[in-house]
Amino acid sequence: MDLVGWQRTAVDAIKRDAIVRSVASPRAESYILGEYLWSEEGAERSALQRVLAGSPHEPWLAKLIGAQLADERRHARLLRDRIAELGAVPRPAPALAQAKLWWLERSCARYGSAFAAGPIVVVLAAAAQLEATGVRMLRRHLDVLEARAVSSPTARVIRAILADEKRHAASCAAAAERLVCDDERVAFAELRERVARIDRAFGVTLAVRYWCIVASRAALERAREAA
Ligand SMILES: [Fe+2]
Ligand SMILES: [Fe+2]
Repeated sequence: MDLVGWQRTAVDAIKRDAIVRSVASPRAESYILGEYLWSEEGAERSALQRVLAGSPHEPWLAKLIGAQLADERRHARLLRDRIAELGAVPRPAPALAQAKLWWLERSCARYGSAFAAGPIVVVLAAAAQLEATGVRMLRRHLDVLEARAVSSPTARVIRAILADEKRHAASCAAAAERLVCDDERVAFAELRERVARIDRAFGVTLAVRYWCIVASRAALERAREAA
């Protein structure tokens, strides 16, 4: 297994174990849903809003971005409602996660003028990568709940969001491909590789942090119940 495969397997195993521990623990579950909320309300949404408000786009592209932003707003609402039902308040994203997004934006800035279609190509390439990561993240959570036959409101929320994110990952990737000219293919491949590398960065560190928080919340809650 290569380094990328090892990293992905490690992150999956750590996070899967954390999700197992979160089942039936509102505090642990609300922390995980809070992480999903960061991605719904994070850099991708701001970048899409910026490009939509900026230079005019072809109708098919404006429609795609507008529909995706509406989905993300609906997802954020679903997550906020579920977190509130669990009796929690969402926390802001940790500094490490924010630093990763800042790095992504800075590192891809040089590609803003590399494509005839403009910076929208960079935004779509980043969105396609982040959406695909989001699909893996939500699929993992749903797998854990379904394997335990847990039919909670959380499972219903995740299932609803997952269906949209699969569509977003595919449509962002297809839109970027459509906008890239033949003589821009090399730059586009470089950009995608760069985005994927940054998306993987801190993967294991963030997963270990995630495990520690989720496991300690779940353990504390169980200890209180047992007392
Ligand atoms: Fe979303
Ligand atoms: Fe999405």
